[in-house]
Amino acid sequence: MTAAPRKIILDCDPGIDDAMAIILAAYNPYIDLLGITTVAGNVSVEKTTRNALCLCELMGIGHVPVAQGAQQPLVRKSVFADYVHGDSGLGGIQLPPPQKEVMPEHGVDFIVRTLMESEGDITLVAIGPLTNVALALRKQPEIAAKVQEIVIMGGGTMGNITPAAEFNFFADAEAAKVVFGCGAPITMIGLDLTNQAMATAEVKEQFAAVNNRMSRFILDLIEDYEQHNLKLGLAGATVHDPCCIAYCIDPSMFEAKRLRVDIETNGELTYGMSVIDMLGVTQKPANANVPLKLDQRVFWDLFVKTIREANGSED
Ligand code: BDR
Ligand code: CA
Repeated sequence: MTAAPRKIILDCDPGIDDAMAIILAAYNPYIDLLGITTVAGNVSVEKTTRNALCLCELMGIGHVPVAQGAQQPLVRKSVFADYVHGDSGLGGIQLPPPQKEVMPEHGVDFIVRTLMESEGDITLVAIGPLTNVALALRKQPEIAAKVQEIVIMGGGTMGNITPAAEFNFFADAEAAKVVFGCGAPITMIGLDLTNQAMATAEVKEQFAAVNNRMSRFILDLIEDYEQHNLKLGLAGATVHDPCCIAYCIDPSMFEAKRLRVDIETNGELTYGMSVIDMLGVTQKPANANVPLKLDQRVFWDLFVKTIREANGSED
């Protein structure tokens, strides 16, 4: 674990597992959540922004700024994942209309300004399509040298929206290509890793035993999220996005390799694929740290402990 809380900006598209990531970031004492930026992804940016505002209120973190970002991908038409996350983006969960207001500043400007004003000690965690991050890099390329690390949920050696591509990279592959070429330190947490973060029956029992307001909310999120996986024949919900927050809190629970990753933007069957040079055949320098193995027990213990001890999570 890091000694001081790690400062992060969370770029997201809530999204059921994004909601779980926001909860973990908001309540874990080793994370200092500086702001949330939203992007079109699982559902439209209007909906992801509404969900982010509602979630902040629900968690009692109304002081965290929420800035709305890009409405659509850099080049291609929007692709949504409402078939997984439901029409609202939060499955069957109904939250009251938010009182909290979105910032007047655009999400991309929030990212640029916050990084440029920093002392180089901010991690950008991106758990949706990479449109905002790419636009920020285009607007102010110096942020690549300012950001401590970009921790990304996306990619992998398999796909989940096509056989080759993971949703976040497929939704804006051109943006992912910009980000992987920017030269900043990148950690890519792809499906090989996140598919290990499975909310098994035992995990659900652990949250149920905590039995506070937020553990019950997490159980509702898991139950919604697992429906899609059960249809695919998987044993439960694989919670992708919280893995990035867990990585920021305690990277020692991940086994990672430094690898070359390039993003396919042309392939007929492979658009959005992260082409990972596992054997070093390209001899190109590595551009990403790629966690491949998760200590699942440590991950879930961290998550459950955070919720058990969270201030504001009581009944
Ligand atoms: C990613 O796609 C989205 O549907 C999830 O929120 C996650 O960020 C998994 O492929
Ligand atoms: Ca997401």
